[in-house]
Amino acid sequence: MDLYEYQARDLFEKYEVPVLPGIVADTPEEVRAAAEKLGGVVVVKAQVKTGGRGKAGGVKVAKNPDEAEAAGRDILGLDIKGHVVKRVMVAAGARIKEEYYFSVLLDRANRSYLSLSSFEGGMEIEQLAEERPEALARIEVNPASGIDLAKATEIAIAAKFPAEIVDKVAEVFVKLYAVYVGEDATLVEVNPLVLTEDGEIIALDGKVTLDENADFRHPHHALLEDKAAADPLEAKAKAADLNYVKLDGSVGVIGNGAGLVMSTLDVVAYAGENHGGVKPANFLDIGGGASAEVMAAGLDVILGDPQVKSVFVNVFGGITACDAVAKGIVGALAELGSAANKPLVVRLDGNNVDEGRRILNEANHPLVTLAATMDEGADKAAELANAAA
Ligand SMILES: Nc1ncnc2c1ncn2[C@@H]1O[C@H](COP(=O)(O)OP(=O)(O)OP(=O)(O)O)[C@@H](O)[C@H]1O
Ligand SMILES: [Mg+2]
Repeated sequence: MDLYEYQARDLFEKYEVPVLPGIVADTPEEVRAAAEKLGGVVVVKAQVKTGGRGKAGGVKVAKNPDEAEAAGRDILGLDIKGHVVKRVMVAAGARIKEEYYFSVLLDRANRSYLSLSSFEGGMEIEQLAEERPEALARIEVNPASGIDLAKATEIAIAAKFPAEIVDKVAEVFVKLYAVYVGEDATLVEVNPLVLTEDGEIIALDGKVTLDENADFRHPHHALLEDKAAADPLEAKAKAADLNYVKLDGSVGVIGNGAGLVMSTLDVVAYAGENHGGVKPANFLDIGGGASAEVMAAGLDVILGDPQVKSVFVNVFGGITACDAVAKGIVGALAELGSAANKPLVVRLDGNNVDEGRRILNEANHPLVTLAATMDEGADKAAELANAAA
């Protein structure tokens, strides 16, 4: 889960990372009140989960409450890369001398953590990485030892921070790493980390991604979730405890077990090459217990996606045998009634497969086609999706 800047700011504060006061506001009047409360120069900042807000007109400096209110009026409602601004943060203005970059993130490819840092911050880091890769220090961080003061100093020196501020930034890196580990984040990024005219180091903009797999350890993370902004289908799947990821294609996919679902996605994409290039519409793993309720919840999510033209149910019966899965499918279709309105291709194999197929044949539902193999099922589902496109 990505956090808004103001949420990242609050987390930073909790870990004693130096930040400036900030007040969120949802209307121009609230922006004015916040500016009056903070006093002096403020910066009105769009709260959207995308980068490049500054360039899009979503970050404005205001010298007084009048200007702040006007900035609030400009920014609220602004569309930044498809994200409409509903909330801004009014932040105290910093007198910036230098802008730096720091991040620590989960490095999946190397099964490790990685810190990226640069003495040249402020600009988009992707651009810096491409144009001046030598200005970006990439330092591996061993998850067992983390970033202590010695490691932080190594990072600061690698990123070419001037000797006189190495100690100061290193202290801040250690605190940012405490946020990363303490909150089970997969990314903590500060761009810019600034040096002020007064010689202070301050995190002016924070981006934090939390690992949802660790939510059980952090009950307060649930409060950070923006339910209104979440994709409604993903929210529905989450509420039903389903592992669902929406993709771009038109063949809905349901399977049991992440490995089987992943290979089903490949097989569907491959079969789609013979049927107008159709692709999988989603990843959905209904897990071990493919009961009628779970199957109904899964089908309900997939059929709710207007891009879906056909559904491929690919189940391997194990502890939950194929007859139970077949009953689940029949029960789900009965439960969904007219909401089930797209063709379903079902491939069953494994424990009690004959009984499972018999149940589906007997039910003889007009939308259901049985397939003998995974390849055949994928081909049929792709064909149906292409025909309906
Ligand atoms: N509180 C502040 N006081 C003074 N200047 C600020 C403040 N916050 C942001 N700025 C200035 O505005 C610039 C953009 O702000 P910020 O990084 O928060 O937006 P952004 O959209 O994330 O930009 P980018 O995506 O390019 O990093 C900063 O680099 C900094 O120069
Ligand atoms: Mg930024």
